[in-house]
Amino acid sequence: MRDLSELSPSLSDPYGAEPTPLAQAAEHMLLARQGAQMREPLPRPEATRVVVVANQKGGVGKTTSTVNVAAALAQLGQRVLVVDLDPQGNASTAVAVEHRRGTPSTYDLLVEGRALREVVTRCPDVERLFVVPATIDLAGAEIELVSVVAREQRLHKALHADPRISTEPVEVAGEDRFDFVFIDCPPSLGLLTINALVAGQEMLIPIQAEYYALEGLGQLLSTVDMVRAHLNPDLAISAILVTMYDARTRLAAGVADEVRAHFGDQVLRTYIPRSVRVSEAPSYSQTVMTYDPGSPGAMSYLDAARELAQKGLRPQDGPAS
Ligand SMILES: Nc1ncnc2c1ncn2[C@@H]1O[C@H](COP(=O)(O)OP(=O)(O)O)[C@@H](O)[C@H]1O
Ligand SMILES: [Mg+2]
Repeated sequence: MRDLSELSPSLSDPYGAEPTPLAQAAEHMLLARQGAQMREPLPRPEATRVVVVANQKGGVGKTTSTVNVAAALAQLGQRVLVVDLDPQGNASTAVAVEHRRGTPSTYDLLVEGRALREVVTRCPDVERLFVVPATIDLAGAEIELVSVVAREQRLHKALHADPRISTEPVEVAGEDRFDFVFIDCPPSLGLLTINALVAGQEMLIPIQAEYYALEGLGQLLSTVDMVRAHLNPDLAISAILVTMYDARTRLAAGVADEVRAHFGDQVLRTYIPRSVRVSEAPSYSQTVMTYDPGSPGAMSYLDAARELAQKGLRPQDGPAS
């Protein structure tokens, strides 16, 4: 391995040659670290907030929003846990966490009954960001869980058995208490997603600013109603996040208006722009928050994270349903 000063032309290259992609990546990492340090920390919430990121449509930005909002909050001083509940393990990839078969994972937590502390790992690039990775084993869990006792409550039990997920403030629960837990759901409404909806108190629903954005949402909302009626009465929809918003098109504006007409103040004011930087970050095993912290995508996720955090601080504007 060469060191950073060799990789980064701005640090050492007297000839001012064109930066190589590797050198650019190194610079961005430096910026990310400095940027993160300069960010004014947010106050920590009164209790751990468990947020379920769900929408049974694939490709709407669940995983992207999970990892970037989580990383943004960590950069804002929060202790954040991401639980990857999608067998594809895209969230694990995006935060550079190992998820080969055999890695302690969500499967062990959910099906094998292993403790959270045995399956949790740190994101190497973002301080205060922790992850339970998903391996491909999780694909079988949907069926294996069917015959298990209290099959809908497995994740709730596993998470709440850990003292770092607590209804107490940090002064009581301890400094290592998590402030936020984000659960990245698979694109289906099966037992995995139900487990998430039972484990969480609130939901963040990403909606892609595209044709048919609202199609299928009725199905999600009736699942939420079913979960409220039988399993988790307090589940609230605290945020709808419009993703892949293209400000140049009337279509995107139209969709966003429609979403707002439907959900009102539950919709975050920040829309996440469609951006190549956001979509290429995972191929470098990074969130856009470290890959390109000054980019519009990163700034938007930072704003969305602040909005979400504030919703918790002012109950009168908070979850409505
Ligand atoms: N703001 C964005 N700009 C551009 N591409 C995006 C953006 N958000 C997500 N994507 C891309 O869209 C695809 C689907 O996003 P993803 O977060 O994986 O959705 P889901 O988890 O809902 O299936 C991915 O390839 C991702 O990189
Ligand atoms: Mg996903």
